[in-house]
Amino acid sequence: MRSTLADELSRYPREPLTRTPTPLHQLVHAGARLGMDLHLKRDDLTDLALGGDKPRKLEYEVARARATGATVLVTCGSAQSNHARLTTAAARRVGLKATVVLSNDERRTFQGNLLAVYLMGADVRFADVDDHWEIEGHAERVCDELRSAGETPYYIPVSGSTPLSCLGYVRAGLELAEQLAASGLTPAAVYTPFGTGGIFAGTLTALRELDIDCPVVGISVNGDAEQCQANLDNWWTAISALLDRDPDRPRGATEIHDEFVGRAYGDATEACLDAILLMGETEGILLDPVYSGKVFAALCAHRHEGRWPADQTVVMLHSGGAPALFAYEAELRAHLTKRGIDLP
Ligand SMILES: Cc1ncc(COP(=O)(O)O)c(C=O)c1O
Repeated sequence: MRSTLADELSRYPREPLTRTPTPLHQLVHAGARLGMDLHLKRDDLTDLALGGDKPRKLEYEVARARATGATVLVTCGSAQSNHARLTTAAARRVGLKATVVLSNDERRTFQGNLLAVYLMGADVRFADVDDHWEIEGHAERVCDELRSAGETPYYIPVSGSTPLSCLGYVRAGLELAEQLAASGLTPAAVYTPFGTGGIFAGTLTALRELDIDCPVVGISVNGDAEQCQANLDNWWTAISALLDRDPDRPRGATEIHDEFVGRAYGDATEACLDAILLMGETEGILLDPVYSGKVFAALCAHRHEGRWPADQTVVMLHSGGAPALFAYEAELRAHLTKRGIDLP
C-alpha cells in the first residue's frame, strides 16, 4: 500500500515553533459585501513574533540547523522582510543567534519588521542591491565572515523557501483539507500569495493528494507568470522527491496571476490599499501591502468579474505580513485621505 503524506512527512525532523491548526474563519461580513462565501485560513496567527507563514517553513529548517550544530541562523531579504523577523524569532526561541542581511531599499525605516529584528537582537547588515531577491551573494559572504570568526552559520534562503521548508506548507495543506472536511465545505478555489512559490507548491501538493481538485490560484507579488510557473515546476519536482511521489502525476487546475504586482515588488497599488480597507472595515482583520493585500485585491477583482458567486466557497490563505503596514504610513495616509477619511 502507498504511504500517506503524513507518513512521509513524519520522516523529517521538525522543531515545533507554532501551535497548529491555525483557524479557518468564515468572513461573514466581507463575504456579504462581495456576495460570496469566503473563508480565511489564518496563518497570520501563527505563534512566533507577530505571526505569518514562516514558522511553518522554519520548523524544518531549524531542525536541520540544530542537527548540524549551527550557532547562528543567517538569512536575507528586503528592509521590511517578514522572513528576517521570523528567522530571528525562531533563532532566539531555540537559543541561537541570528544575522540578517537586508537590502538598503526605500522601506528602510525604523518601523515594523526592521524595528522587530533589532528588538530581538539580530546582527543586522545592509547591502546595496537593485533587487532584494538578488541579495544572496551578500549573505554568502557574511556566512564566510562568520565562519572565520568561529561561528557555525546555517543559511536559509530568501523567503525561507527550500524543498525541505515547503514541507511546512504540505502540512498546512493537509490541515486545511481536514478543516474543510470537518466543516462540510468543498472549495471552488483556494487563493495563496506567490513570492518564491513555496507556499503555493506545498499547499497544492497536499490538496491534490486528498483529491481536492479545485483551482489553486497564486497571486504573484513579484515575478511574471512565466517565472512563477518555472518556480512552481521546480518546487513540485523537489517536493515530490522528498515525499516519494511521481513528479509527473497530474497537478490539476492552477492559475498564476501577475497583473496585481503593480510597478514592482512592494508597490502598494490602489486596488491593494482598497482591499486592505475593505478587510479592515468589514472583519477587523489587518492585511499587508505586499502579500495578503494583493491576494485579496485579486480575489475582489475576480469576484467583480463575476467569478465565485455566492453558492461557491472560496478560501484565501492569509500568510501574515501586517507588521510591514507601519512602513507604509505615507501611502496609507494618502489613501485614507483620498477615500474621504479625516485623519489627525
Ligand atoms: C507574509 C508573506 N506571505 C507570503 C510570502 C511568499 O511566500 P512564498 O515565497 O512561499 O511564495 C512571504 C515571503 O516572504 C511573506 O512574507
